Amino acid sequence: MYKGWLPALAGAAAMLAQTPHPQSTKYGVGRAATPEEIGAWDISIAPDGTGLPEGSGTPAQGKDVYASKCAKCHGGQGQGGDEGPLVGGKGTLASAKPLKTVGSYWPYATTLFDYVRRAMPYKQPGTLTTNQVYAVSAYVLFLNGIIPETAVLDAKSLPQVKMPNRNGFVGDPRPDVGPKRAAK
Ligand code: HEC
Repeated sequence: MYKGWLPALAGAAAMLAQTPHPQSTKYGVGRAATPEEIGAWDISIAPDGTGLPEGSGTPAQGKDVYASKCAKCHGGQGQGGDEGPLVGGKGTLASAKPLKTVGSYWPYATTLFDYVRRAMPYKQPGTLTTNQVYAVSAYVLFLNGIIPETAVLDAKSLPQVKMPNRNGFVGDPRPDVGPKRAAK
């Protein structure tokens, strides 16, 4: 029963081996990713804003983006609908019924940009322009009462937005992770 696919596999391996690249010498397969291919995946934004792209947006600009691309799932005011809420829950974290939202729980505003850009709208991720991501992030922060309606969010101002739960997290005290580990 194995006789059929073993030669087929060997044939496939031989085909792959015909397109070597500098880093493939070890296994003899694949090719180096192009800078463009790496760039398309290399979109992580650090908590301090490192990696934020050029562009900007205001809550007023984000209102329309939100209404047409987010409200259906997250509710007209971010209160939740078919999917979870993005707004509210402030002050509930220590209660018997904590409501974790962007406003009540997330420690960094920069994460909102990163998350929306990479994952939303849920069924069409990656379709928003940079300015739309800034704008709709601004609108969600505005709905949470964190920034005024006139605030302009960009690579400089977004990291400065102070989230209500910024200090609600504790560090990991284990010695084998984090900076202590890295210093070794
Ligand atoms: C088709 C429904 C749908 C649409 C449209 C949609 N979302 Fe979502 N959203 C989801 C789902 C489902 C999740 C949870 C995903 C998960 O946990 O993996 C989510 C999660 C989120 C979260 C994380 C919430 C949290 O606290 O964990 C944010 C922020 C968010 N969406 C923002 C947006 C924004 C902004 C838009 C519009 C640009 C949008 N979403 C459009 C379905 C949707």
